Amino acid sequence: MEYTLKRGDLAKQKTACLIVGVYAGRELSEPAAALDKASNGQLQRILKKGDFEGKSGQTLLLYDLPGMACERVLLVGAGASKEFDLPALRKATAAAIGLLNDAHPLEAITTLSLLPIADASLYRTLRETILASEEGLYRFDQCKSEVKKPKRPLKRMGLFIGTRRRSRITDKAISHGLAMANGSALAKELGNLPGNICTPTYLAGRARALGRRSRKLKVQVLGERQMKELGMGALLSVSRGSSQPAKLIIMDYRGGKVGEKPVVLVGKGLTFDAGGISIKPSAAMDEMKYDMCGGASVLGTMAACVEMSLGINVIGIVPSSENLPDGNANKPGDIVTSMSGKTIEVLNTDAEGRLILCDALSYAERFKPAAVIDIATLTGACIVALGSHASGLLSNDEELADEVLDAGKESGDRAWRLPLWDDYQSQLDSNFADIANIGGKGAGTITAACFLSRFTDKYRWAHLDIAGTAWKSGSEKGATGRPVGLLTQFLLQRCGPRKSKA
Ligand code: BES
Ligand code: MN
Ligand code: ZN
Repeated sequence: MEYTLKRGDLAKQKTACLIVGVYAGRELSEPAAALDKASNGQLQRILKKGDFEGKSGQTLLLYDLPGMACERVLLVGAGASKEFDLPALRKATAAAIGLLNDAHPLEAITTLSLLPIADASLYRTLRETILASEEGLYRFDQCKSEVKKPKRPLKRMGLFIGTRRRSRITDKAISHGLAMANGSALAKELGNLPGNICTPTYLAGRARALGRRSRKLKVQVLGERQMKELGMGALLSVSRGSSQPAKLIIMDYRGGKVGEKPVVLVGKGLTFDAGGISIKPSAAMDEMKYDMCGGASVLGTMAACVEMSLGINVIGIVPSSENLPDGNANKPGDIVTSMSGKTIEVLNTDAEGRLILCDALSYAERFKPAAVIDIATLTGACIVALGSHASGLLSNDEELADEVLDAGKESGDRAWRLPLWDDYQSQLDSNFADIANIGGKGAGTITAACFLSRFTDKYRWAHLDIAGTAWKSGSEKGATGRPVGLLTQFLLQRCGPRKSKA
């Protein structure tokens, strides 16, 4: 959708629909009070009839309010005024978008970004309004033969800023909001595509297409032969059981100063995880098409960097493979040699994410990174620990961990830290190789991160386990686009003046 700023007198705005907030208990927000005044108290008289309480997410569409230049006024419940915060703004905006996209207006003006929120700047509320609107408009229907499109979809949204002026900040809010929304839509699309379409080769093709969008982004794809030359025996052991060849996708974005150390993002791109010989139960196995959501979030974040023309150097690496059972597949007890030279006993072939990631993490060393963040749907245990609200965060660096947590808070795409104490490392002891690929009972998310930590001692590193946050199950099944919000926010924060040395 297209977004423009609108300022001046609210009652004089010529638009098909004005969106105004009403708090719980029919308490008028400032824009609603302005409309009430211009309509000589008509808004209050309507509310007194009792059809609309102002409960969060409630909507009421009004026509022909006197004294207005607009055709319609959409009242949106904002919940208790004292509790109005960014999630409440998101909810109210989503409710408005849901209604308007099915109704008639082709354009609307929202005043919701003006509702005061403690600690949130206009930049933040504008950006959030765009993100929530785009989230509400997102559909995945490319695999349906017939698509029910709204007859007159919402095309343009005005963002009302009252008497404030357009500035660099407001323009940034719009461009950042759109870039983040588009990046997360790309991550959703790749996640939602089925495994028979979204293969490692397909992902590589989409990455190459990104590279054609900007001179600052160079994309390189390594095939199995090149990976073999690099000694990536762990990664290649996973793809051996599949007829789809593995790919190592490398996206090199140079938006920062020449010679400035890059941030490296490594995303698990497992396009279908059947478990291999340690095969998974069939219930909900279809959802293992989402096992490439870490990789998708790296593509989405690179796309956002390109769109914002961000002034930072970022490398995206996506090791991509399928994990299927077959006569060539890894067998429990097999021992493989990683690029680092460390040998790994594959005690469970379903713990494959760490096998493809460890070689990609060794490969990352060559970029002399300022920091490395890997993103992976790595462990079911993370869903047990944190559910679907927070991604799991584990890190070998306090400052970097705080930075990631902070970016999560700022973007509303939160992470929660788990310990990476040495005490857990012995769970990975193997009688036959340097390290086992599973840590046995207990602390599955931590032992998975412990495994990765054996390959990341050359740089500052953080690991995000997104098993619970990358997609939703059930009737709302679909990719969430997380953690593109967190990652983009992290990079945006790194572009500003930096306190730390990392
Ligand atoms: N991709 C899965 C993790 C997963 C499972 C994410 C369910 C989201 C939902 C990963 O490859 C896996 O199978 N992990 C195993 C590890 C175990 C064998 C140590 C798991 O979590 O069961
Ligand atoms: Mn698995
Ligand atoms: Zn997996």
